[in-house]
This record gives sequence, structure tokens and C-alpha cells, in this order.
Amino acid sequence: MSTPHNDAEVGQIAKVVLMPGDPLRARLAAQTYLTDVVEFNAVRNMLGYTGTYKGVPVSIMGSGMGIPSMAIYSYELYNMYGVETILRTGTAGGLRRDVRLYDIVFGQAACTDSNYPRQFGMPGTIAPICDYGLLVRATGVAESIGASYHVGNLVSTDTFYSQSSTGEAWASMGVLAVEMEAAGLYLNAARAGKKALVMCTISDSLLSREVLSPSERQNSTMQMFEIALQVAIDDYAQGK
Ligand code: HPA
Repeated sequence: MSTPHNDAEVGQIAKVVLMPGDPLRARLAAQTYLTDVVEFNAVRNMLGYTGTYKGVPVSIMGSGMGIPSMAIYSYELYNMYGVETILRTGTAGGLRRDVRLYDIVFGQAACTDSNYPRQFGMPGTIAPICDYGLLVRATGVAESIGASYHVGNLVSTDTFYSQSSTGEAWASMGVLAVEMEAAGLYLNAARAGKKALVMCTISDSLLSREVLSPSERQNSTMQMFEIALQVAIDDYAQGK
């Protein structure tokens, strides 16, 4: 069985999937870290790979940009391919002075300005949150390798080029960083009864206006992939 967006057969995708936004980053990470790599998807160039990391099956697939794209792919992975855990390995813009370029932010929760949550028909505001066990494991790995990291709220926005400046409002409520996918992923995980964690490398600061170049972005996300892969194999061991 394949879907309109994914050519993989059931069984070709591992129980745990790492998802960078950029499919080329998915390919690079698969080539760099996995062995016995098989490409399971190239529909719309949303590249996806399965291989093994330290003997454990792991998949890495792009999510594309924005909640709608992430939501399509994660919905299919959870509900049609039997995936249990998705680890988003993305980039985000820092909203506070203490959230610096190259830092890693673990999204304990994700606010959003998107209408995506409306479809669930909640009688109030749903708080999209990560899986606590994944978060504990990820911070443990980050500590052990001396990564500079933060844990807290993200905001998943629909507007990279916003016509109003919203960052200050989110920062005034303690939100650490802005990206475009976490809230959709967390809501899909909640509805499917599955697990998700978002980690983002800070690639730009909305306060200092500093921005990483594409090559700096590429290199800086590698530490995050190493954390995500360790979390993936711990998660696999726990799930057995
Ligand atoms: N805004 C939204 N998404 C992002 C940003 C940003 O500044 N940086 C990386 N992803």
C-alpha cells in the first residue's frame, strides 16, 4: 500500500522516524549516519530513507515546511505505516536573548497561530505537548555530550514573512523560539496515541537578526541528529 504522498510499502518504514524539514538534509543524515540505507520515498522529492543505526532500524524523511506539509506526512506515518515515534530535527528562530545561534531547543510544547487545531473540535484550547519520556531521554543525551540546550515552549507559525511582528508577544509569555511544524506534529501524535518530540537548532535570532548561512546550518544540525539518533535507539530498546 502506498499513499498519494508516500511510495513506501508497509514495513519499509521503521517504528521511529527522524524528520528534518529539508528532504536533502534527510538524505545527508541517512548517508552520514545509517548503514544499509534504502530510499523508500521520492514522491514530490520528499525523500525518505530506512537504514540501521547501531543495529537498530531507523528512518529519516523530510517533512517539508509548515504545519500542512508536516501534518500530511506525519498523519500517514502514524496511521498508515505503523510508526510509533517521530522526532522532528528542525531549525528555529530564537525569540529571546539567551536563545543563541547553534543552541538546541527541545519543544516541551508548541503554541500556534494556525487553524489546524480547530478540526479537532475541542471545547477549549488544546495544548500540544511532546512525549515526556522522549524529552527526558533527549535532555539526558544533550547533557552527556555537553550540548547547549533549552527546554520550553515553541510557537509554530503559518507566516515566515509575517506582516505584523508577533515575536515579542510570544516572547512575553516565555516562548523560546519560532518554527513552523511542531504544533501540527504534536496534535497528530495526540490523536493517534503515538509519540513525538521536536528539537530545533537555532538558525536565526529575531532579536539580534543574526542568521546562519546554509552551510553553517548544515553543520550545526549534525549534533542534533546525533542526539535524535541516540533517543531513537533508546526508544527502540524501551519499546521491545
Ligand atoms: N521563523 C519561522 N520558522 C523558522 C525560523 C523563523 O525565524 N527560523 C527557522 N525556522
